[in-house]
Amino acid sequence: MADARAIFTDNSHVKDPDQAEPAAIAIRRRRATIPDGLAFPDDQRASMLELDGVEHTRVRSPLVQALYARIAAFESHCIRIVEDALNRIEGRAEFDLMKELAEPVPVSCIGAILGVPPETLATFRQWLDDIVQTFNPNRTPENVAALVAASNGLAHYIRGRFADAKLNPPDDLFGDMARAQAAGAELSDTEITYNIRGLLIAGNVTTTDLIGNTARLLLTYPEQLHILRTAPSLWPNAVDEALRYEAPVDFTWRIATHAENLSGCPVHAGSALNVFIRSANRDEAAFPEAHRFDVTRPRASRHLSFGGGAHICPGAPLARMEAKHLLSRLFDRFPRLRLSDPSVSPHWRKLPGFRGLESLVVRID
Ligand code: HEM
Repeated sequence: MADARAIFTDNSHVKDPDQAEPAAIAIRRRRATIPDGLAFPDDQRASMLELDGVEHTRVRSPLVQALYARIAAFESHCIRIVEDALNRIEGRAEFDLMKELAEPVPVSCIGAILGVPPETLATFRQWLDDIVQTFNPNRTPENVAALVAASNGLAHYIRGRFADAKLNPPDDLFGDMARAQAAGAELSDTEITYNIRGLLIAGNVTTTDLIGNTARLLLTYPEQLHILRTAPSLWPNAVDEALRYEAPVDFTWRIATHAENLSGCPVHAGSALNVFIRSANRDEAAFPEAHRFDVTRPRASRHLSFGGGAHICPGAPLARMEAKHLLSRLFDRFPRLRLSDPSVSPHWRKLPGFRGLESLVVRID
């Protein structure tokens, strides 16, 4: 944990894949395997995820400032989205919690922040599902075709929305960015639109997995759920404990820019510093009895599931808000909620780098 934190906070470490040595395959892969047929193949160079130093701050700051303000004002809307989703499962006996709740709620929330009309959300979800294949090194030709079509559909949609927002800024994140640009923020249209796309992609499968993983843990360890039923104020801590125990993102990276010694391990300029979040989160030195899921754990939020340093995840408050409201209301409204068949092993999704469930079939009757 301490080594991982030190890697994140040392600003000499960078994220630009071009600075990694050729042997750093995992870091260089994504840029090296851009599929043919993308309408805007060079856009990804604008991604804050791979920018460093002053360029990273220039692009990230105005976007994240606008995002934080939107999230801070979003709580009551988030609660409405959660109640609507729960209304839709009312009266059902058995359902897949991933399909009915964990997938639709995050896309509805980020969709609302971006002003996406409800009737477009289904298309949006399909685009996001297809684009996630970007992270799959074993994707099939069919996956690639769907990924290219979805990427282009989403890129055209976002570019169109931002062009409209510049003419007449709406009350959403597109409008915020149009106003910021008009007020002098030094961001190009591509930097804005590509990073709005980034918010969508980074924020969906991850939050879906947080919701699914937390639900599964509470259904698997009923004594922990019982603690929450008697002390609901522990819900935020429970969500952080689930983030620690079952991190939705397996790893993130930095690249060394000079020779150094990291806890006895020599590295050179260009070395990949792959930080395995799931391992750091189970470090006994940081979390006593680290392999125990404990919703009362003191300082559970000191996990590294959102990374750290200058690149720390800007969507963390939104993900925490969605998971807390959705799960606390779900267990409240459906007190008989249980796994449909506790003898079935968890059905993990096969997407390298992400820890989440393909399905979680539950009963509420
Ligand atoms: C449980 C949900 C989530 C998890 C576990 C998660 C995890 C992460 C991690 C590990 C990173 C890399 C940080 C680093 O390298 O230090 C990251 C970056 C990022 N995340 Fe999240 N994330 C989540 C939700 C979200 C949401 C909801 C959004 C947007 C609304 C979002 C947007 C981003 C963006 C834009 C970055 C890049 C930041 C940068 O490089 O400056 N994430 N996230």
